[in-house]
Amino acid sequence: MKRSELVVVANRLPVDHVGEGDGPDAWRRSPGGLVTALEQVMAGRDAAWVGWPGKADLMMEPFEFDGNTLVPVRLSSDNLEQYYEGFSNGTIWPLYHDVIAAPIYRRSWWDAYVRVNRRFAETAATVAAEGAFVWVQDYQLQLVPKMLRELRPDLTIGYFHHIPFPAYGLFAQLPWRSEVIEGLLGADVLGFQRPADAGNFQRSVRRLFKYPTKANRIDVPDGEGGTRRVLAAPFPISIDAEAFVELAERPDIIARAAEIREQLGNPRKILLGVDRLDYTKGIRHRLKAFGEMLVDGTAEVGDVTLVQIASPSRPGVEAYQDLRDEIELTVGRINGDYDTMHHTAIRYLHQGFPRDEMVALYLAADVMLITALRDGMNLVAKEYVAVRTDQRGVLVLSEFAGAADELGSALLINPHDIGGMKAAIKKAIDMTPAEQGRRMRSMRRKVLHNDVERWGQGFMAAVDEIRAAKGAN
Ligand code: G6P
Repeated sequence: MKRSELVVVANRLPVDHVGEGDGPDAWRRSPGGLVTALEQVMAGRDAAWVGWPGKADLMMEPFEFDGNTLVPVRLSSDNLEQYYEGFSNGTIWPLYHDVIAAPIYRRSWWDAYVRVNRRFAETAATVAAEGAFVWVQDYQLQLVPKMLRELRPDLTIGYFHHIPFPAYGLFAQLPWRSEVIEGLLGADVLGFQRPADAGNFQRSVRRLFKYPTKANRIDVPDGEGGTRRVLAAPFPISIDAEAFVELAERPDIIARAAEIREQLGNPRKILLGVDRLDYTKGIRHRLKAFGEMLVDGTAEVGDVTLVQIASPSRPGVEAYQDLRDEIELTVGRINGDYDTMHHTAIRYLHQGFPRDEMVALYLAADVMLITALRDGMNLVAKEYVAVRTDQRGVLVLSEFAGAADELGSALLINPHDIGGMKAAIKKAIDMTPAEQGRRMRSMRRKVLHNDVERWGQGFMAAVDEIRAAKGAN
């Protein structure tokens, strides 16, 4: 097999299967943030991407796509149930998001997680060239760094954690907490979204292993009497801001934004929510606040419309099925009580949309609502800010989303405080154009400057530093 200098390892390949058969023509680049982020790092390099092709039991040879090699990892339906829906999304996801839903600890899920992580590590080991850099992504693959180091000590290994890392008091619940920390410490550089996440990780390392940590550096015993230096630091991820600006300036997309307003019956104000249908996003809290505003008359149908895009996610996991039922019941009730023949209170769409349509929606929205109860970063916040080249629009942003660290000029809210959220939404609806402009300009400066290219360069600079230090030993 061809070997690469840069290997990305992620749960999913960066493509979706859209056509017939398994040939390269059957695949299209996935629209997600991770893919765009890494696309920039991989462009023009001899790079491979190891990941699951998105369907159970699909057995495929590596193939070329857009100049990179994609290396599929086969997952059986049992693997998917136990490793993906089970341990990744039924144990780690809720635990790391502050137990908003109860994590389920099941030994058979853990066993599957170990097995599947090993399969990813073994595949990466066969694809990486001598001395290559392997970049492991996210919580589904926390054991891969250590497994890979054991198989290939010559590699430099990076890991980026896209979701929050919890406080030790929560993390300590995990029956396999030590194994997870050891797995992650197999990396040379560990990237987190917020300083708080990197801090929580370091505290777990100190509590469980007593390894010294100082200024983002951890000295880990190397098994030969010496130590190996690991860097664990924040690298807040971002978007390709320029690409969003270009879309926002396209006449057809601007026209589409006007059309959306019209199709909604030209309400004075449009509120927008865009989320995966996930219990971490605070969609229920948002609906509660908006519903109460309709009851007490702070918002009126026809004057204000809430558009809620909830893209389908993890339908095999029970907590997601329950959430969908609950949200759809609530939306149905609110609309039943308040809709008129001409106007709807909430336009709810359980669908995903292409990027062009998303940008048109952002441009049509007077107020963007991000009410996550816990979120690693939330790139929708950054996308909304990037496209508002008109310096208009108001971002209502949860302080529990990573994006709040950079976007302090948003209307920051605690989504558990329904009264506070209602007051912030009211303030957003009434905000003068001058204040909108002042806040938006300050946020746009941040997003345009800290774009995804900078994120990639920052992480790679840390990797190069560690590599140079290794070479010097
Ligand atoms: C979050 C995670 C990603 C994940 C994505 C979609 O952003 O950090 O790792 O890929 O959600 O979830 P899914 O389970 O469909 O891959």
